[in-house]
Amino acid sequence: MRWWQSCLVVYLLSSLSSVTHGELYTALADMEELLTTEVVLIRTLDQYIEAQEERLKTLKKFSNGFKMEHAEAAKDVSEYLANPINAFLVVKRLTLDWKQAENYMIDHIYKEAMDNMTRYKQDLKFPTDEDLSGAATALLRLQDTYKLDTSSVARGELNGIQYTTQLTASDCFELGRQSYNTQDFYHTALWMSEALARHEMERNGTNTAKWEILEYLAYSKFMQGEL
Ligand SMILES: *[C@@H]1O[C@H](CO)[C@@H](O)[C@H](O)[C@H]1NC(C)=O
Ligand SMILES: *[C@@H]1O[C@H](CO)[C@@H](O)[C@H](O)[C@H]1NC(C)=O
Repeated sequence: MRWWQSCLVVYLLSSLSSVTHGELYTALADMEELLTTEVVLIRTLDQYIEAQEERLKTLKKFSNGFKMEHAEAAKDVSEYLANPINAFLVVKRLTLDWKQAENYMIDHIYKEAMDNMTRYKQDLKFPTDEDLSGAATALLRLQDTYKLDTSSVARGELNGIQYTTQLTASDCFELGRQSYNTQDFYHTALWMSEALARHEMERNGTNTAKWEILEYLAYSKFMQGEL
């Protein structure tokens, strides 16, 4: 276990005045349980994706079938309809076949997946919003205690040791937002600036809007007297 991991866990337990070794291991065991939860969630997401892909594949088959028949008819409409078999097939397509397609368009899988999730939420350990702010606070305190540079932390560098974990723009944004929630505008500005820099670098694949980052950044700078 790395020193900062222990620090994080200790800070997570910051409500306790003194943390013993036993408590530290309890906290780590708790964190390990979260990873177990994640395994189940990933499996559920994959089951969901797989089921949806199957459903879409079936819908594509319907679509292609309809298109092929329709193209045949469009070549010469009167000739096509003069054939009593075709006339029957047009009617069948627009009644039975479309009804079947519509059944596949209804997304039953979403409900099934949500039911599964509801069940897991009862059985598995999930962190709360308080846990999230606790973990963010722990990281920020660590940053202060060891006077760590924001960009270095975001790059996964702690006290000269390079870890493989890097923070995305969205991660930095969350650290900034958590600081903002506790009216810690100093850290808000630091982390929103980092979020902005990372947002520029990432371009694709980021799920935080630039205007949102800028809004927090401007407000926190303003609150610190910078205009
Ligand atoms: C829901 O859970 C069942 C049982 O684990 C599984 O077979 C099914 O694929 C899950 N459905 C979805 C959509 O995740
Ligand atoms: C963004 O795109 C680049 C290449 O265009 C790719 O290497 C990188 O992995 C992508 N990032 C994400 C988060 O998808």
